[in-house]
Amino acid sequence: MAAIKTIGVLTSGGDAPGMNAAIRAVTRSAIFNGFKVKGIYRGYKGLVDDEIVDLQTQSVSGIMHHGGTILKTARCKEFMTVEGRKQAYENMKKHDIDALVVIGGDGSLSGAQQFAKEFDIPIVGIPGTIDNDLSGTDHTIGYDTALNTIMWCVDRIRDTASSHERLFIIEVMGRESSFLALNGAIASGAEAAIIPEMASKVDQLSELIQSGFRKSKNSSIALVAESPVTGGAMGVAERVKKEFPQYNVRVTILGHLQRGGSPTAQDRILASRMGAAAIDALMEGQRNIMIGDDDEKMIYVPFSKAIRHTKTIDTELLDVLHRLSI
Ligand code: F6P
Repeated sequence: MAAIKTIGVLTSGGDAPGMNAAIRAVTRSAIFNGFKVKGIYRGYKGLVDDEIVDLQTQSVSGIMHHGGTILKTARCKEFMTVEGRKQAYENMKKHDIDALVVIGGDGSLSGAQQFAKEFDIPIVGIPGTIDNDLSGTDHTIGYDTALNTIMWCVDRIRDTASSHERLFIIEVMGRESSFLALNGAIASGAEAAIIPEMASKVDQLSELIQSGFRKSKNSSIALVAESPVTGGAMGVAERVKKEFPQYNVRVTILGHLQRGGSPTAQDRILASRMGAAAIDALMEGQRNIMIGDDDEKMIYVPFSKAIRHTKTIDTELLDVLHRLSI
């Protein structure tokens, strides 16, 4: 394997708070170890369209506390084609890029896996997504910040919900995964998390109505995972209107609010450690792996184990939510 001299870094897919801290860590750790660094704009799109710039130590100054990504991001259709990936490879060669660090979620790392296989390129992935849905890592970059944003929003909704004695159905992101809904519900003291894992087994809405409005509660908040299995917040609210018309229901969809904002300390630290670990991995000759955190330790997870696997939720969390919502 030829020695690596220049490392390219890109962010791809949905942005996540902490991506800037990861770019900074990759860039500085690479320069510290004697590599050149190139920043690729707009994810794989920038690789296909040749939007590639040199990154120096100072290029990544003062970015750590900002949400979003200074390299921009995109979901790129061309990269899904063989021609697109060939063009991306030509541009890598043109800029003497020998290895890539890809910061993104499941789709982005799937693209990385395909690209690495076709062109024999060393690629290391860093899990950057608010969804926390990648296997092999306890946390993904951006998840903790999004969770805190959800908690902040629900705290405010709680004030008006209890004043008006209303039932609020709040939809959170997460694609097919329920981590934001479940832990968001626990963190904000919500009465229920309507999540795909449970929605297919029990009627969570009926349970909520029967238990939540029983006894002392005069208002309730249910977080709903955006998955089609739950019907989303609108679907759940429609059911309330039809089946439980006595309740005063309102819907809030938190949407892209959840993706913004200054990253929490936890996300900044995770991103910094993962960025440094990505450079270590390349120096150790690792390829086709994602950096993960396992019990506070940085680990290398083969792409094949990280992507396209359902990361299961801990049923203890469901039990805690259930017990505390009486
Ligand atoms: O994967 C991150 C995420 O924010 C999901 O939670 C959400 O379903 C999706 O991206 C939204 O994507 P877009 O920004 O393209 O609407």
